[in-house]
Amino acid sequence: MRKVTVRDVAEMKSRGEKISMITAYDYTTAKVVDQAGIPLLLVGDSLGMVVLGYESTVSVTMEDMLHHVKAVTRGAENSMVIADLPFMSYNLDSTQALANAGRLMQEGGASSVKLEGGERMAETTRRIVECGIPVMGHIGLTPQAVNGLGGYRVQGRGREEAQQLVNDALALEQAGAFAVVLEMVPAPLASLISKRLTIPTIGIGAGVGCDGQVQVIHDMLGLFTDFVPKHARRYAQLADVMTEALTAYAQEVREGSFPSAKESFKMDETLLDGLADGYVVGS
Ligand code: KIV
Repeated sequence: MRKVTVRDVAEMKSRGEKISMITAYDYTTAKVVDQAGIPLLLVGDSLGMVVLGYESTVSVTMEDMLHHVKAVTRGAENSMVIADLPFMSYNLDSTQALANAGRLMQEGGASSVKLEGGERMAETTRRIVECGIPVMGHIGLTPQAVNGLGGYRVQGRGREEAQQLVNDALALEQAGAFAVVLEMVPAPLASLISKRLTIPTIGIGAGVGCDGQVQVIHDMLGLFTDFVPKHARRYAQLADVMTEALTAYAQEVREGSFPSAKESFKMDETLLDGLADGYVVGS
């Protein structure tokens, strides 16, 4: 197989083929995602919450992102790696946005970037795309704006808000974004936007009418246990599996049944004769 490209993503929408996308933040997980054949791999700034233990994504820096994007791109052979531009790394002006998008591609090895915001980010999106960097938009609930939004709430339930989201999606498409994430948008509105756009929509808490779906890997694998978002489906309970394994390990260390001969290395034991007697001067 070869690396997934923005053309493949566009063709998937044309064929009506649903697109799966998942987050990853390290080399090992990226390899597993890749081997599972998931086309889009997002190094999301959800990193801040599920890996670094921050309260929100607002604390995530460019250096945090670069560190993890580098690890993921080393593990992802076929999946297309999309790197999140973190809070305030693209908000000052297009020049700042371009410089940081460039770093995620050049230093991090990502194939594209994602940024939050609709109409107000259209010009920035256009500038980045013009430089040959594919951009994924992100509208609806934009977690970097959580303080302004007053919490993690569904967006677009009112008529005006819904119209704004349609405008946001269209503005991003016209600016050249190759796809747009719709987060916590009512399913009927997300469905309408998905039909209206020629580029794919990738939903998270936006219903089945989107062209694709994205989940935070720690949520779907049951690794992050602080809270479970309503939109997440648990496909595994890895925190329970890990706790069970670690408890068994600690118990076996305590009782001396780990390690066994199988997990140890042999040598010619006659060479040990007299060694315990201590250091011999001049030897
Ligand atoms: O950071 C992230 O993981 C995201 C997804 C929730 C879309 O932006």
